[in-house]
Amino acid sequence: MGDLKKDLQNYFKQQEELFTDEFFFDKKVLVSDGEIKISLEELEEEVKQCKKCELWKTRINAVFGAGNPEADLLFIGEAPGHNEDLQGKPFVGRAGKLLDKILLAVNTVREDVFIANILKCRPPGNRTPHSGEIENCEPYLLTQIQILKPKLIICLGLIAAKTLLRVEYTLHQMRGRIYNYHGFDLMVTYHPAALLRNPNLKRFAWEDFQKIQKLYLEKTRS
Ligand code: URA
Ligand code: SF4
Repeated sequence: MGDLKKDLQNYFKQQEELFTDEFFFDKKVLVSDGEIKISLEELEEEVKQCKKCELWKTRINAVFGAGNPEADLLFIGEAPGHNEDLQGKPFVGRAGKLLDKILLAVNTVREDVFIANILKCRPPGNRTPHSGEIENCEPYLLTQIQILKPKLIICLGLIAAKTLLRVEYTLHQMRGRIYNYHGFDLMVTYHPAALLRNPNLKRFAWEDFQKIQKLYLEKTRS
C-alpha cells in the first residue's frame, strides 16, 4: 500500500480540481509542503460543520471521535447510533458499554485510546452507510490517522474493515491477521454490537483481543 500522506495529497489535489471554488475542507488549508497543517481540534470543528453528504440534515450531533490524542491504539467503528448522535460521543450506547469491558479486560480504558468511526454522522435508523457517504467522510478519518499516528489500528466490524482495506472478505477471514494500512499496523475484530447479537462470537473476540494486547505491548515496550 502507498504512503498515506501522498494519498491524502493526491486526494486533496483531486478535490481541488473537482471543486474549484470549494476546497474539500472549507476553512483550513490542510496540506501544504507535504505536511498536515491542521490540529485535531481544528479538524473536529470542520467535521461539526460538515455538509458533504446528506447525513448532516438528520444528525443532532456529528461524532468526531474521542480519547487521548497521544493514544497508541485507535479503534474504528462504523457510524454513530442513536445515543452517539444525541451525545456527540462515540460508543456510548450498549455496544460502547461492552467495548469498555473489553478494554478493561486488556488492561486499558477509553481515556487511554482513541475511538472514531468511519462515518461521523448517524445514518437514519442506523442503516448501513452508503458508498457515497463513506467516500465523502473517509478523508476525515484518514486525516485523523495522519495526526494521531497510532501504533496499532483496530477495526471493529466488517464495515470499518472493508472500507479501509478495500477487500471483500468475511470478518472471520480477516480476524487474527496483521494488515499493513498505509504503513500502520491494523487488525480486525468483531463489532461489539455483533457480540451482543451473537454471544457465541465472544470467545473469538477474546482470542483477537489477546493478540491485539500482545502486539500492542510489543510495539509500545521501549
Ligand atoms: N457503533 C459504532 O460503530 N460506532 C459508534 O460510535 C456506536 C455504535
Ligand atoms: Fe460530513 Fe461525514 Fe457527516 Fe457526511 S457523514 S455530513 S461527510 S461529517
